[in-house]
Amino acid sequence: MVRVLDALRDEHRNFSRVLEILTREIALFEKAEEPDYDLVEKIVDYLSSFPDVSHHPKEDRLYQKLCARDQKTAELMGDLEVEHLKLAKLTSEFAATLKNVLLDSEQPRDDFIAAAKEFINFFRSHIMLEELRFFPAAMRALSPADWKEIEADLRDAEDPIFGEDVVAPYGDLKEQIFAIATESQI
Ligand SMILES: [Fe+2]
Ligand SMILES: [Fe+2]
Repeated sequence: MVRVLDALRDEHRNFSRVLEILTREIALFEKAEEPDYDLVEKIVDYLSSFPDVSHHPKEDRLYQKLCARDQKTAELMGDLEVEHLKLAKLTSEFAATLKNVLLDSEQPRDDFIAAAKEFINFFRSHIMLEELRFFPAAMRALSPADWKEIEADLRDAEDPIFGEDVVAPYGDLKEQIFAIATESQI
């Protein structure tokens, strides 16, 4: 198995778990029930930083190598680096609408729900594209030397929630996420 792909797939699994929890909290908000704002804030904070610090740079590096080895397949897939920029933009727009909700501003509820759904849906289909097309294409096109080169270039940042050492602001979030995920069979 290729180590970098294993790490990317693990990260996708973790992102999918938190996206599912986010979906449920947004559904509560939509029904005018009280979501767990603290949980939502921490998840949005995590998704606003870790993917751009560690996950997307690994994929960008892999995508550049795929472009060099099999440009046709890479082009058919669409530009993953552009998708990462769009995802970062949707994340910060969603984070901004969340901040307004927490400040109890006059922002319409519909704007928050729409921003949340656009962000979640885009993130999920992006993960799907990478799992179903990008990773298999990279597996086919890259040589063992390519993988070695990529792994040597990468400096992996520790995941602040799912890594060995949970970073302070996230506290017991990992246990909370796993408890919800197990209970809900996510
Ligand atoms: Fe990606
Ligand atoms: Fe990804």
